[in-house]
Amino acid sequence: MMKEVKEAFRFVNSSALWYMLLWTISLVSSYLQLLRARILGSKSTPISASIDPNLGSSRPICVITGATSGLGKATAFSLAEKGFHIVLVGRSPQLLSETLKEIKSRNKDAQLKTFEVDMSSFKSIFKFKNSLEKWLPDSELHPSIQLLVNNAGIMATSSRPTTDGYDRMMATNYIGPFCLTKLLLPLLKNSSVPSRVVNVTSFTHRYASLRKFDKDSVTGVYLWALNKYPYPQTYEYSKLCLLLFSYELHRQLRLTDDSHHVTVIAADPGFAKTNIMHEFPSYVLAIAFLGFKILGLLQSPHEGAESFIDAALAPPETSGAYYFGGKGRTIESSQVSRDSKLAEQLWETSCFVRLISWIKRFSGRGDYNHRIEINIYLYIKSVNEIMMESKAGNKKSSTSSLFYEAPLGYSIEDVRPNGGIKKFKSSVYSNCAKRPS
Ligand SMILES: NC(=O)c1ccc[n+]([C@@H]2O[C@H](COP(=O)([O-])OP(=O)(O)OC[C@H]3O[C@@H](n4cnc5c(N)ncnc54)[C@H](OP(=O)(O)O)[C@@H]3O)[C@@H](O)[C@H]2O)c1
Repeated sequence: MMKEVKEAFRFVNSSALWYMLLWTISLVSSYLQLLRARILGSKSTPISASIDPNLGSSRPICVITGATSGLGKATAFSLAEKGFHIVLVGRSPQLLSETLKEIKSRNKDAQLKTFEVDMSSFKSIFKFKNSLEKWLPDSELHPSIQLLVNNAGIMATSSRPTTDGYDRMMATNYIGPFCLTKLLLPLLKNSSVPSRVVNVTSFTHRYASLRKFDKDSVTGVYLWALNKYPYPQTYEYSKLCLLLFSYELHRQLRLTDDSHHVTVIAADPGFAKTNIMHEFPSYVLAIAFLGFKILGLLQSPHEGAESFIDAALAPPETSGAYYFGGKGRTIESSQVSRDSKLAEQLWETSCFVRLISWIKRFSGRGDYNHRIEINIYLYIKSVNEIMMESKAGNKKSSTSSLFYEAPLGYSIEDVRPNGGIKKFKSSVYSNCAKRPS
């Protein structure tokens, strides 16, 4: 008990308390946007299920990360009721099986499948992609998915590096969802009906002060040099990154596909009573919940997940929107989150980070070195620029939109030093030549 009181006292004396207050202001200002829209009589976006959940035997497939607790679990319940075949993604096999049983006990018709995935690990995400690709045909399902909900997230109060050497919060909240989305994009594109990515962000993104999107910032490696782990700032930044990524992906998909086949929507739950703050001292947590309850801002996970369901079922024209507050309502996210230059910078850095993880994974750490990393990076960047110029023709387009797509089809030997950069380059060239224009 004394330990908990001490912890609570330390928290009250820390900057984290001020961040909590700023976040409350940011949450209130989000609700004020809703109120203003209501007073001005603007209509909420109508929700018509663009992804038809009633496809008979072939239900649309929805992948939900972090589906074993809080908002992810509530979303899994709701979307299973709406007829989706739910792929529950979680890091704990026990929680996955408990969640599966819970949903089944309330909804006998629910179609569910579980996968154990650590969203902070590139290796685990890659393994999941392969398992999913295998499971679909093995279960006689169409090799596609219709919905990806990037929900898994943490609010860590201390720094813990991942196996890839990144900050755990950045890896789970941003790098993981970025990699997973890029890996599952072919399955989303392969859907015979319009498909969607829903990225779960937060009102806290409005106070993100870090505006750098280089490798050390995005991976959180710069944090190792600090005396104290700035967790509120890191959380805000991770949510800003996810939001910038959502808008950039939306823009890039529109450049290559005007039919709104794959759409991207951001969803913000407001404040919900879940496990997200479980690392906070228990007294602080109890006071925070009480405070939010008195202000009328505390929601149950099911209420918080309403904006996710809205985002999942919204019509394709709403791609690039920010859902908040349930009832199909949208608001504006921060001005910074709409900065396309920053989004492009982040995109390139994220592709680079993903590329490095990919090279490390396939070349083996032993024969991996920095020079090869840089060479491949520069080479792919230039190849993509050439590809974009020839592909875009007179269409105005971003040079980064095909960035890093190229190496996906290459074998381990292509990037191994003994395979040689030369071999890798010629492999890239021949594959580029084979691509349809
Ligand atoms: N609650 C809020 O007020 C609020 C507000 C704004 C945004 N959000 C966002 O909403 C999302 C869901 O959070 P929540 O409030 O529902 O929190 P939660 O109850 O803690 O649920 C988080 C989920 O993510 C999973 N997860 C965490 N790290 C993972 C990893 N490395 N790999 C795979 N799964 C992992 C957790 O698994 P375990 O059960 O194994 O830990 C859990 O299932 C998060 O992105 C959060 O940032 C929440």
